[in-house]
Amino acid sequence: MSDVKLAPSILAADFARLGQQVAEAAQAGADRIHVDVMDGHFVPNLSMGPAIVQSLRRVTDLPLETHLMVTDPDLFLDEFSAAGSDSLLVHYEGNVNLHRTVQRIRTLGKRAGVVINPATPAGVLEEIVQDVDQVLVMTVNPGFGHQQFIGTTLPKIRRVRELIERLKPGCEVEVDGGIDAATAPLVVRAGATVLVAGSAIFGDRDGVAAAMKRLLTALSAMGRETYLAERSALQRSQPCNSE
Ligand code: DX5
Ligand code: ZN
Repeated sequence: MSDVKLAPSILAADFARLGQQVAEAAQAGADRIHVDVMDGHFVPNLSMGPAIVQSLRRVTDLPLETHLMVTDPDLFLDEFSAAGSDSLLVHYEGNVNLHRTVQRIRTLGKRAGVVINPATPAGVLEEIVQDVDQVLVMTVNPGFGHQQFIGTTLPKIRRVRELIERLKPGCEVEVDGGIDAATAPLVVRAGATVLVAGSAIFGDRDGVAAAMKRLLTALSAMGRETYLAERSALQRSQPCNSE
């Protein structure tokens, strides 16, 4: 599974040792660093701003991917771009001028991505996927790290993969939330090629390198076990109440 890329999310990192933790992730084979930006409006949490990106830009050559969980991303594109973000990921939800936002990102010379929440159907990507470099499928509700993977997102990842193969082959399919050694094989089997992981990487008591190795080992061991785990994840999903 060498074509699967890992994007450690620094939301789960120790901010007192951020540079060091990012260096460890780079050394262990991280493809990019995922920066979660939250404004307390779009999601009920606050996190970080362009100053963090600026500091990281000085200490790492890895691409910095900025996930904007904010009500009006257009207000911040210039600042994150100037701070050193390589890609800017904006949510479909609540953005009435998504095409304009994406074009602004491209004008800034950055990679553009569109993010969809767990309750947002894959089909909304139909008219925007041609204009983006990556699609990010949220596998938890955005706002917090260390949440449980939502199993019903698996068939949606498959639908996103099909849509991309049809309309924009080469566009990346990334997933974010609850990704660990158990869920990573499931999302890859469903069609994801880039995995964001926060607590599974920075929250591992054995350290960043061991955690990333665990994820990669789980991916290389994909097989019958994965099929069984996938079935049980789907069965655990909330059944419809028939009453
Ligand atoms: C959630 C963020 C994620 C978060 C994932 O709103 O977008 O990037 O860091 O954390 P884990 O991997 O712990 O679920
Ligand atoms: Zn994220």
